Amino acid sequence: MTTRVILCFAAIVALALPVVADDIDTVYISTLDISRVKQAWGYPLKDISIEGKGLSIGGRKFEQGLATHAVGEFRINLKGGSERFLAYVGVDDDVIGGEGGSVEFFVYADGKQIWNSGIRRAGWRAVRVDLDVTNVNLLVLKVKEASDGINWDHADWADAKLLVSGEKPAAVDMPVEKPYILTPKPSPKPRINGPKVFGVRPGHPLLYTIAATGDKPMEFAVDNLPTGLAVDESTGQITGTLNEKGEYTVMLRAKNALGTDERQFRIVVGDTIALTPPLGWNSWNCFALDIDDKKVRSAADAMVSSGLINHGWSYINIDDCWMVKPDSKDSMLAGDPRDARGMINTNKNFPDMKALSNYVHNKGLKIGIYSSPGPVTCQGYTASYEYEQQDAQQYANWEIDYLKYDWCSYGRVAGGSDRTALMAPYFVMRDALDNVNRDIVYSLCQYGMGEVWKWGAEVGGNCWRTTGDITDTWSSVEWIGFSQDGLEKYARPGRWNDPDMLVVGMVGWGSQLHPTSLTPSEQYSHISLWCLLSAPLLIGCDMTQLDEFTLNLLTNDEVLEVNQDPLGKQANRVSQIDDLEVWVKVLEDGSRAVGLFNRQDDTTSVTAMWSDLDIQGKQLVRDLWRQKHLGVFEDSFTATVPGHGVELVRVRRNQ
Ligand code: GAL
Repeated sequence: MTTRVILCFAAIVALALPVVADDIDTVYISTLDISRVKQAWGYPLKDISIEGKGLSIGGRKFEQGLATHAVGEFRINLKGGSERFLAYVGVDDDVIGGEGGSVEFFVYADGKQIWNSGIRRAGWRAVRVDLDVTNVNLLVLKVKEASDGINWDHADWADAKLLVSGEKPAAVDMPVEKPYILTPKPSPKPRINGPKVFGVRPGHPLLYTIAATGDKPMEFAVDNLPTGLAVDESTGQITGTLNEKGEYTVMLRAKNALGTDERQFRIVVGDTIALTPPLGWNSWNCFALDIDDKKVRSAADAMVSSGLINHGWSYINIDDCWMVKPDSKDSMLAGDPRDARGMINTNKNFPDMKALSNYVHNKGLKIGIYSSPGPVTCQGYTASYEYEQQDAQQYANWEIDYLKYDWCSYGRVAGGSDRTALMAPYFVMRDALDNVNRDIVYSLCQYGMGEVWKWGAEVGGNCWRTTGDITDTWSSVEWIGFSQDGLEKYARPGRWNDPDMLVVGMVGWGSQLHPTSLTPSEQYSHISLWCLLSAPLLIGCDMTQLDEFTLNLLTNDEVLEVNQDPLGKQANRVSQIDDLEVWVKVLEDGSRAVGLFNRQDDTTSVTAMWSDLDIQGKQLVRDLWRQKHLGVFEDSFTATVPGHGVELVRVRRNQ
């Protein structure tokens, strides 16, 4: 090659390159502290896709970039030192062949949305982002799911970089918010709490503990208790059996040195149980595999000593890992999965399930267990496949009150994935449960496959998980909670949509627990939304480490009343303006429970219009978290709501 040709080539290359001043640095966002990325599934990865392959969008390969998963968020403090943000975004090609993969990318500068991609689907070309970020301090990159769940939502910020002329950018977390307690302490005078209606099947043993706050000792009584039932004066435990179908309205009474309280209560003897969403605890979100008899007893102890039982919390549910694990090297888990009659054995961490069940019942609480229709559970422990009747019988022998039945390995034996195949194993266990002389709440867990909400009732489920597993991040709570709109028509007494368990308090899925990563405002949103959704409320934290904030959050009777309302309606979204949403649940007395949610990062005002709530005229508005009247409002109500927070009110006609 001659010198002339080389010079000419150099000139062309120089012309093709953008002119970048000497003092501009390029900082790839994947080189920042990406552990601060919050996402609803998996972990953020640098320069490779979520599946560990090369980054690729719509067939175009990228050497550098950040692979994330919807719903996700990355906050970068630019300190005013960057000039441009450049990237290519899209769904990574590693999802091709999977079902779905559709997301929307957003960029926010100092709280304002400055760009969005529109919906991007798997296989679509990468979209170029080129934004002026001069003088911007906080840059937030968000990926939302596109209204079809988060499955396969592998979202790439490919070749994503900042052109930096001043201060270097740094990844940051959401600002720390100090816990703020909203709810006043319960009065020392008696107040009867908990559900106002209770279902039981004819001939099946009934246990219902009257929930009441106020100084102890307390004396309980029930007027008009039907023959067959008795109440223990000092514990408030109602026990016995009713053989005939029918409805009994009784009066619950509680008395202590400071006063009395009474409340009407309906006992409905019929085919349907769980007439209000179950309230309790489950071991998974804290202990996961690290569970044993002692921890379950401690949870039951804490349910009583913390006072949660006085607000209606009643189930103590053991999740996966109480059975024998075939082929396990761990002597605590190994052993014969079943006895000679095919009855399931526990592993050595649960030496005597009947004794454990008695222990829980003696406290006035109920006990739950877990299995799968497949040969093994999700963690590889013995499950119910081909032993459904023996298992149902064993649960009844142990006096179990709740079964979470988790799809897990059933896919291996299902022989299909259509609705019939999805329903089949749930019918089998339903029949088995119907053959035993006990009320066992039947909780279906199969992550929402085949739109379970449309047939969960038909297979006799009392509740059904509508999504994958929750984690203690706002992204997770946000996409699970706010994606429930539209499912309200499938919920009713005894049939509940279940958006998974609560992630407040000390959680961790193992032996290393940590305080929930949700901010206090996010926790108020989480509990408010789950109450509005009439969701089963299963506390997922270590009950022995309940702090004041968490306890306060879980013991607001006016908030729990929204969840336990006997009408059993589920809230839906009635208005959405950008990230501001209003959700409404119609209550039995005609009043409305209304959640005014602010999904933005900063404090802002949110308005609920009476026309959206289907009400008119003067209405009394009561703040449920603060248990305080806010006044009479006409046409609408506006509240100032912290970022990711909520104002939960009850609106009723001003008589
Ligand atoms: C998952 C389920 C979790 C937990 C876990 C136990 O499938 O969604 O809630 O039960 O299995 O292995």
